[in-house]
Amino acid sequence: MGFKITTLPGDGIGPEVTAEAVRVLQTIAGIHGLKFDFEEYAIGGVAIREFGSPLPRTTLDACLSSDAVLLGAVGAPEYDRLPPNQRPEAGLLLIRSALGGYANLRPAISYSSIAACSPLRPEVAAGADILIVRELLGGLYFGEPRGVSSTNGVTSASNTMRYSVEEIERVARVAFEAARKRRGKVTSVDKANVLETSQLWRQTVIRVSHAFPDVTLDHLYVDACAMHLIINPRRFDVLLTENLFGDILSDEAAVITGSLGMLASATIGGEVGLYEPVHGSAPDIARQGIANPCGAIASAAMMLRHSFGLEQEACDIELAIEHVLEAGYRTPDIAAGTGGYVMKTEEIGELVCQAVAEIADMRYAYHAV
Ligand code: NAD
Ligand code: IPM
Ligand code: MN
Repeated sequence: MGFKITTLPGDGIGPEVTAEAVRVLQTIAGIHGLKFDFEEYAIGGVAIREFGSPLPRTTLDACLSSDAVLLGAVGAPEYDRLPPNQRPEAGLLLIRSALGGYANLRPAISYSSIAACSPLRPEVAAGADILIVRELLGGLYFGEPRGVSSTNGVTSASNTMRYSVEEIERVARVAFEAARKRRGKVTSVDKANVLETSQLWRQTVIRVSHAFPDVTLDHLYVDACAMHLIINPRRFDVLLTENLFGDILSDEAAVITGSLGMLASATIGGEVGLYEPVHGSAPDIARQGIANPCGAIASAAMMLRHSFGLEQEACDIELAIEHVLEAGYRTPDIAAGTGGYVMKTEEIGELVCQAVAEIADMRYAYHAV
């Protein structure tokens, strides 16, 4: 079986963590006789420097003609003063909309081996296993009109939060279907006490829920949800929400796992799946070889599951990450209070590869008996 994977390492720690995800995918390919063709293209700040655009045409074309896209991160302080449509982040939003994936799956799992590095008490965080389903192509990120204008010497800026029934329905269905394969519960998060978009969101989610009588649905306002996530993360199974709320709540959910570096994501529903860790380019730790590659590696696992149908191989990677953490190996962001051995980014990547190989060997031995 052969697959063409476009990699977009991007800025800051993006290339560091993407290299480890690719290394793990190559290991999986070697073990299972798969053929992955990797082609690397520029996005974000590096693309602005090289080609004058955060999403050059060649990058876009390569992504559209591939089986899946693996992205690192975009963003660099030197572009912080530019208007939104000229920044590295614009490249990310453009590729998301071009690939068409509207459902961004962001799992947040508390592993017991690193529970102590979360600021939450282990008895609060332990066992939490949340799937955030974030709507990715609507809301304030893409709503028109938007912009800055000056009238009579008064400058103002505006963005538009807009959702159609269809946009809400399609992402809601993804959440309900995911819940069916998990613990059967969807919590829809909105601000229906204030916003019309949220009232439409809630009505539509309730209507979609009628087709899923086996799934329980409840609703939270986003402000209260931010609190419940920290007070009792185990109350959540699938958390369904719109674009901006999902962006904010997923970084908050990272605290439950111990680090933003642990969070993976898959964007599905479009022509080509897009896989990226939840974190950004982390300029504060870039080029030191200390970034946590687990989120990027787990995003590669999600690629195997959602784009290639390789469920077993995806599970092996996820299990390998867990084994490496259980054996005490960790990057500095998840080391505090957990003991163990502090490793570099590429050492963790290498250890995950070894664990993947051991897991495959064990399965082979088991079947051979
Ligand atoms: P960030 O996610 O880059 O970093 C936040 C904090 O988490 C930092 O202290 C960082 O060191 C730490 N961190 C993040 N990932 C880590 C990892 N893998 N291992 C260890 N520590 C990690 O967010 P920010 O600092 O607000 O943004 C920096 C830039 O990244 C900005 O330009 C922003 O727009 C961009 N950004 C890009 C993406 C993306 O490409 N998907 C996501 C978020 C932010
Ligand atoms: C994320 C990031 C992006 C977002 C930015 C960089 C555009 O924060 O993927 O969470 O807001 O979606
Ligand atoms: Mn974000």
